[in-house]
Amino acid sequence: GPGLVVAVDGPGGSGKSTVAKAVARRLGLRYLDTGAMYRAVTQLVLEQRVDLEDPQAVAELAERAVITPGTDPDAPTIAVNQVRVDAEIRTRAVTNAVSAVSAVVAVRARLVAQQRQIIAEAAQTGRGIVVEGRDIGSVVAPDAPVKVFLTASTEVRALRRSRELGEKGVDDVARTLAELDRRDVLDSTRKVDPLAVPKDAVTLDSTGMSVDEVVDVVLRHCAAAG
Ligand code: C5P
Repeated sequence: GPGLVVAVDGPGGSGKSTVAKAVARRLGLRYLDTGAMYRAVTQLVLEQRVDLEDPQAVAELAERAVITPGTDPDAPTIAVNQVRVDAEIRTRAVTNAVSAVSAVVAVRARLVAQQRQIIAEAAQTGRGIVVEGRDIGSVVAPDAPVKVFLTASTEVRALRRSRELGEKGVDDVARTLAELDRRDVLDSTRKVDPLAVPKDAVTLDSTGMSVDEVVDVVLRHCAAAG
């Protein structure tokens, strides 16, 4: 039969990536990080010194760019015009600019179409796929049989993000928290496909949960879906 499609949405630092990759590994599914695709376009925008405040210019650049995500949960990769940018897309500069780029309608239209193609392929070949992002259950794959919305308190999300970035000081956590907050507001209030809880999603607050506990809950929903 067709492969399982699992949608995992949520804000930054909610544990989406860790959980999505673990679920994909456990079930032998592919893994698609849609945030990495928006980050890759952003990396190109910054590199080419295109004005972030000029949606037309950002859209034109995005239309010419070829974004290639690798879908192995053990080694996800991302390339822009055949050049790998796995590390570059995780910089603070990209993180703080990505919301402006992901709010551009033409950028979303292009990436969403590509994401749907990757999902359809995985589903057809019976491989199945876990897809993480902000609008997967609501827009990209509204028919996904499993939809999870992951949350956590802002403090816990900032701590996790700060740790990922290798930061140590209290000031760093405070700054990361402020940046996360700003990105949450931008992502949740943009006009096109804002971050929102899909109506038929399972909401999981991971604040007091271990990764294994969250993964187990998601796996149980996958088993129930077929
Ligand atoms: O998940 P991650 O933090 O890598 O996402 C980076 C940014 O990409 C988000 O802050 C958001 O602006 C954008 N994004 C999006 N839609 C998605 C995935 C990410 O708008 N499906």
